[in-house]
This record gives sequence, structure tokens and C-alpha cells, in this order.
Amino acid sequence: MEKYVINGGKKLEGSVNIQTAKNSVLPILAAAVLTDSPVTIMNVPDISDVRNMVRILGCLGCNVRYDGQDMIIDSSSAYNCEIPRELAHELRSSVFLLGSVISRFGKAKIAYPGGCDIGLRPVDLHLTGLKRLGVKISERNGFIVCGCDKLTGNEIMLDCPSVGATENIMLAAVKAEGTTVIKNAAREPEIEDLQNFLNAIGARVCGAGTGTIVIEGVKKLKGASYQPISDRIEAGTFLIAAAMCGGQIELCGTSSENLSSLLHKLRENGCKLRIKNDKIYIKNDKRPVSVKSVETQPYPGFPTDLQAQMTALCAICSGNSIVTENLFETRFKYVPELCKMGADITVVGRSAFVRGVEGLKGATVIANDLRGGAALVIAALAAEGRSEVLDISHIDRGYSQFEQKIRLLGGEIRRVVI
Ligand code: EPZ
Repeated sequence: MEKYVINGGKKLEGSVNIQTAKNSVLPILAAAVLTDSPVTIMNVPDISDVRNMVRILGCLGCNVRYDGQDMIIDSSSAYNCEIPRELAHELRSSVFLLGSVISRFGKAKIAYPGGCDIGLRPVDLHLTGLKRLGVKISERNGFIVCGCDKLTGNEIMLDCPSVGATENIMLAAVKAEGTTVIKNAAREPEIEDLQNFLNAIGARVCGAGTGTIVIEGVKKLKGASYQPISDRIEAGTFLIAAAMCGGQIELCGTSSENLSSLLHKLRENGCKLRIKNDKIYIKNDKRPVSVKSVETQPYPGFPTDLQAQMTALCAICSGNSIVTENLFETRFKYVPELCKMGADITVVGRSAFVRGVEGLKGATVIANDLRGGAALVIAALAAEGRSEVLDISHIDRGYSQFEQKIRLLGGEIRRVVI
């Protein structure tokens, strides 16, 4: 077990490079199984979700090797269509492999996926979509078992714009016979990134980023080298950290248009923001002003993956805020931990009622999930005095070099093995 020890109250100053997007790399790794030509994914972040995805690819018989930070995946010798429970439980993205493994082998067997404990996280939309493409599916003793003589294109209407279901159906449809149309598709930038990767290896996908995605089935795919987009959630986490701690920081290798809903809120908080090419500058040297409300929505609305970090910021604003989580049922588990630092937050149903306090004080807190854990770290950086954040393996799932980047910005943080 490892923890962070943090001495808070320091302003943040300096420049930080943003990692390649976790939520792009994971579906793209699943997509690599579709082709038997080698693919290179550039600048892959060193995070445990990626390492676990690589273990799953290895279990399927794919050959994965690193060239510096680039990852080369050769699926030509892939032979296995089963993902064991202990691997599937490690991360939500194991479910993306259903679409690509079925496309590759005509069958797949995978235990129900794991991932952050932030809600029920059903996979009904994934399975309904795959059935529309001709997949026969049975669920027995915790496994999803799929079989399919031939994948056939079809029209699929998603009940809700699920990111994972959209991606899974895209993967299964790439080599299906005929045309697939996904309606009410998720619009996240990572979906467009997956489309661009699939087209780079010879697929014919269009419409990602809108609510309707069209996939023309192709017979053969090829190899490619691909640089996925930068991680907008890591970028947003650092921007909110700067708003909380004060000072001024520059984010490099990021894109502001994927963050416009957060940037709008940070301006309301009184932060000064400047955007130049792939850099975002933020400056804040006074107590942030509260925003009246934050409502998480599917993209381009406010991202649920920044909800915890934004609530931490609201906790020290002058004034009150209401943060409403519309996507996941239990994504406020970090709130009692923030209250140990002196935050004044009451959760009622899907909303957190936040009374801004002058400042937080250091405390020992426990990370329950990836983004809630990150929110506790930035709250500890802004708090006066010493904090400990326990069980930081949750944070290691999605932030590479997290403490190194924070130290580069002047934050006092160190990792301790206990
Ligand atoms: C992806 O999860 C991301 N994970 C999540 O990021 C992110 O929070 C989420 O999209 C929303 O943006 C990856 O990309 C690996 P969904 P996913 O399917 O695909 C319901 C992080 O911190 N739903 O869009 O699991 C579901 O219950 C992680 O990086 C169904 O009802 O999210 C939820 O209420 C956390 N049936 C809503 O849709 C289904 O079959 C959104 O879920 C699927 C989803």
C-alpha cells in the first residue's frame, strides 16, 4: 500500500506537460486486436490501467513491446478469445474488448468488467448494440459469452449516449458486412480519436463527435502509427489545482476546445486564463468566487470526471454552490474525506450542497476512486498544514508521474510506501 504525504499552502508556479489521454488509449488498445498488422501508439501514459490492458492483450496472444514511450502491438499471433475474471475485474475498459475480440474470432468470453466504484455501471447498452449486429449473447456465472457466425451492419439507437457502448459497437462494426449507424452516440473527443485511429488502420468511420456515427464495413485492416489526443481530465485537474492553490501555471500539449465547459466555470471563479496554440495559462491570486451550480452532463457538458475536483474548488470559494452528478449514482464518496479537511458539504441524492469556507486544514484521508482521489490531493495541496492521502493505487490508474509533476510546480508531495 502507498500513500502521499503533502505539505499544503504553497502557490503553484511553472509549466507541466499533459499526458496522452487515458480514455483514448484504452479503447485504441482494444482496437489494435482488430488488425493482424503491427500498430504503434505513441507516447502512451505509464498508468496502471494501461499496464492492465497490456496484460489482457498478452493473455489474448498479442505481442506488446515498448520503444521508449511508444507501444507496438502485434496481434497477428492472437489466438485466445477469453479474458479471465482477475484481469477483467481490474478495469472497466476490458469490456471494450468484446467488440474487437468478436470481430477477430467470431466469439468472446469475458467476466463482468471492473473499474471505479462510482455507480452500477451496467453493460446492457453494449450487449444490446452487439446483438443488433448479429451477436448471440448469454450471461452465466459472472461471464458474458458471445458467439457470432457473421457480423452484419445495422442501425442502433442508444438509450443514453454511453461512451463505452458507442466505442464497443464501433469496434464490432468496423469489419461487419454492410453499414452500421449508431444514433444517440456519445460525442466525447475520445470517440473522435478512436474514429481517427480506426480510419488510420483502414476502417471507414465518420460522424464521431456528432450524435450519429456511420461505419462502412471493410474486409481488411492494416497497420499504422498513431498519436492519441492529450488527456483533458488530467489538464482540468491541474487547472483546478492552480485555481485552489493560487499562483500561475502553464499547461503544454493540451487543447482548450475539449475543456470549454471547465474554462467557462474557472472564469466565473475569477481565474485569469490565456490560450495560445496547445498551451493554457491560468493565474489566480485571490480567493475564488463561487459558481452557483455545476451540473455534469455528457460531452460537451461539464465532465463527470472533473466533478470531484470542481467540488473541492467550490469548497473554498466565497459563497455557496450546488454540484449535481447526473451520470453516475454514487460519485460523491470523496465528500466525507473532504469534510475531514474542514469542507462544509452536504450530499442529498445526486447533489452536493457546498458552503464555501475560508480554507481547508491538513488531514489524513482515503482515496476511494480515481478522480475522487485526485480531488483529495489537490485539496491537500491547497490546505494549510500536513495531509496524508491513503490508498493512492486508485490515482495511479489514471495519472502518470503525478507527484513528479506537482513537485515541478512547487507543490510539496512525496510518495511513501506503508
Ligand atoms: C467512460 O466510462 C469513461 N471511462 C469514464 O471515465 C467516464 O466517466 C464515462 O465514460 C463518462 O464520460 C473510459 O473511457 C475508460 P458511460 P463508461 O458508458 O463508458 C450508463 C475515468 O475517471 N450506462 O458513458 O463506463 C452508466 O451507468 C472514468 O477516467 C448504462 O446504463 O461510461 C452511466 O450512468 C470513470 N448502460 C452512463 O451510462 C450501459 O451499457 C454513462 O456511462 C453503459 C452505460
